[in-house]
Amino acid sequence: MKVTVFGAHGLVGSLLTETLRREGEDVVAASRRSGVDICTGAGVAKALAGADVLVDVTDSPWYGDAELMYFFTRGTANLLEAARAAGVSQYVALSIVGVDQIPDSGYMRAKVAQEELIEESGLPYTIVRATQFHEFAPTIIDSLVVESDDDVDDVHDVRVPDALIQPIAADEVAAFLAEVVASPPRNHVSNVGGPEKITFAQMAREVLSLSHDDQRVVVDPTAKYFGATLKKDSLVTRDGAMLASITFG
Ligand SMILES: NC(=O)c1ccc[n+]([C@@H]2O[C@H](COP(=O)([O-])OP(=O)(O)OC[C@H]3O[C@@H](n4cnc5c(N)ncnc54)[C@H](OP(=O)(O)O)[C@@H]3O)[C@@H](O)[C@H]2O)c1
Repeated sequence: MKVTVFGAHGLVGSLLTETLRREGEDVVAASRRSGVDICTGAGVAKALAGADVLVDVTDSPWYGDAELMYFFTRGTANLLEAARAAGVSQYVALSIVGVDQIPDSGYMRAKVAQEELIEESGLPYTIVRATQFHEFAPTIIDSLVVESDDDVDDVHDVRVPDALIQPIAADEVAAFLAEVVASPPRNHVSNVGGPEKITFAQMAREVLSLSHDDQRVVVDPTAKYFGATLKKDSLVTRDGAMLASITFG
């Protein structure tokens, strides 16, 4: 089977490409560094020529709300048009568990718009929603550090939301995507999460202890997740999700 992976040089993309090749699939690894730009459309049709399955594991290099919306809608529209022209038998995209529960996040709104374009395209598809990657945990914790004038000796508070998180190893996300690629399109969303729901505070303590960092972890119900307010279970799976096996830490 021929599979074109867009975002093939990213974290999940490179693990997925490696997994698919190990399984004997013919993989085209497409991303900006291979001359493919999903936003301008450059190189997209060529990368998809003869493909049976398209996988989109790209991520935006831009952070502003408008730029994120542009990336995920323009890029997805270009991929859908090219997928239709190439006659692919399945369009697979990676999204986020709870993406539609966090409307005050520009990133999540852009991912919801991406999902809607795929669902409304009429193409056979599978959207995989995953929980946060183990590898992303240090970035999350960094974003929650709050410096104050009262801090002594460079020890700051890590102010974490009072919410749950369910980290998953990117390798297991790639393995799940590889299974999806080899299966018929599901034409709906499939959720996959890490094996354990832990608190943000537990994750923070784990991340800090691994880097021998003695910042203080404080649970703060007003703390935001990249600018967004979380409910306790916004980011964790519900019944029916696939659960991975590698625990965090
Ligand atoms: N981080 C998490 O915890 C998490 C959880 C659930 C779902 N997700 C989703 O997983 C997906 C992949 O995340 P990741 O962390 O693996 O991403 P990543 O490591 O940042 O990799 C992003 C990839 O996208 C490519 N790319 C960026 N702009 C492009 C463009 N205009 N045209 C073509 N390719 C472009 C990059 O290409 P170059 O390498 O060539 O620059 C890179 O290969 C994202 O959509 C994200 O929403 C993430």
